[in-house]
Amino acid sequence: MNQNDTPLFTALENHYKKRPISLHVPGHKNGLLLKADQFFQGILHIDATELTGLDDLHAPEGVIEEAESLLANAFHASKSFFLVNGTTVGNLAMMMATLEEGDTVFIQRNCHKSILNALELTKARPVLLGPEYDPEWKVSGGVALETIKEAYECYPECRAIVLTYPNYYGMTYDLKGIIDFAHRYKIPVLVDEAHGAHFIGIEGFPSSAVALGADVVVQSAHKTLPAMTMGSFLHVNSQYVSMEKIAHYLRVLQSSSPSYPIMASLDLARKYIATYTSSDAQYTKERLASFKKDLQTLEFIKVLEYPNQDGDPLKLTVQSNCSYTGYELQQLFEEKGIYAEMAEPNNILFVLPLLKKDAEFPFGDIITRLKGLRIQAAKKRERTRYFNKKRISTLYRVQSHKKALFPIEDSAGSVCAEAIIPYPPGIPLLLPGEKITAEDVEGLQLLLESGARFQGGENLVEGKITVFDKLEDNND
Ligand SMILES: Cc1ncc(COP(=O)(O)O)c(C=O)c1O
Repeated sequence: MNQNDTPLFTALENHYKKRPISLHVPGHKNGLLLKADQFFQGILHIDATELTGLDDLHAPEGVIEEAESLLANAFHASKSFFLVNGTTVGNLAMMMATLEEGDTVFIQRNCHKSILNALELTKARPVLLGPEYDPEWKVSGGVALETIKEAYECYPECRAIVLTYPNYYGMTYDLKGIIDFAHRYKIPVLVDEAHGAHFIGIEGFPSSAVALGADVVVQSAHKTLPAMTMGSFLHVNSQYVSMEKIAHYLRVLQSSSPSYPIMASLDLARKYIATYTSSDAQYTKERLASFKKDLQTLEFIKVLEYPNQDGDPLKLTVQSNCSYTGYELQQLFEEKGIYAEMAEPNNILFVLPLLKKDAEFPFGDIITRLKGLRIQAAKKRERTRYFNKKRISTLYRVQSHKKALFPIEDSAGSVCAEAIIPYPPGIPLLLPGEKITAEDVEGLQLLLESGARFQGGENLVEGKITVFDKLEDNND
């Protein structure tokens, strides 16, 4: 197959060149009705619909099928799909295709919320696996093989393992060991590889979960490849998960009017990565190394290195080395026109560009602007860290949806009815259906006293937590 081909994008370009008159949806009529908006014009020219020659995402047999085949060929998958609702929809579809009500499934505790939403939809019974914690970076990583083995001993009826690889910060772990272990017991491994769409065998970059033998892998092409927001890939290589079921759930969950600009950008992003050469990789490596070296001259930040050098070179985490928190530094960077991916109490995360040889990127300008901040190095303000240290835990199935607000100090022994995620490190302290322990209460109070930020738990500031007031009888 010729990875320089872009069947879908080319079909859209050719369609536009015919100067077509639109008597069909969408209502902007090839951009005619929004002529005044110069910003949008270019993109609206290819914002088409399922016209002759442009195929149909839900029953592909033309240019979309060709484009998806090129994608599967590039990643060595049996079948690959374009997704127009991000990795979110891929995670939902892969879990709905694999799990049935009551099935036991191992879930990495620090997973994305789409995995928890999929749990709700499938009604599978999760066994939560605690990730490893990196004390220098102060973030959670992947699940240890030992944790998986221990969980399997307790729950040999496990029907699937759902993992996140790499984490937000680009850290990887022994995924191959876990996949080999799981396959010995015919357990499929489903991987949320939202941050690894560029892991395609480039030297110096981690291997993709696809290459490591995972059964289903979902990647946000829009995060690290040049695809439009919401564009993702899903790859299948499995004897255990039905491809037809995945295709079915993608049809159920995705719009019947998928965006052609997003799909065309996926076609271009696939070409970009599939034709990436070793000299492109060498060039990117050199540019990133020199940027990192320049950042290291700024005393107010510390550039973090991956433990054992194992991680994604496109992610760069810097830690505050001054009196400002990560959030405050982020604000100062923004005043200089530099927008980072994320900030937290100690760190700021940058997502760097995957450059092709000789491509320009304003690294020098970033350094000049940051030097202009003139911040002095100083002792940093350490934040209280507390995270859920449970290695293996389960959730209650809660039949009654009746909820009540409880004072936090009285909540030990109750079953939590909301996700409480101190951020960072982003490991849920409590999830809906999780029994609250005295240790959880203590940890929560400690975090609140230290001014920690949370995702979820909107009543925590008033000292209240939402709990379920009725439980099903047959819980373990
Ligand atoms: C680990 C992880 N999984 C899934 C998602 C959702 O991806 P998308 O935005 O492509 O739907 C994200 C988004 O940030 C994520 O970080």
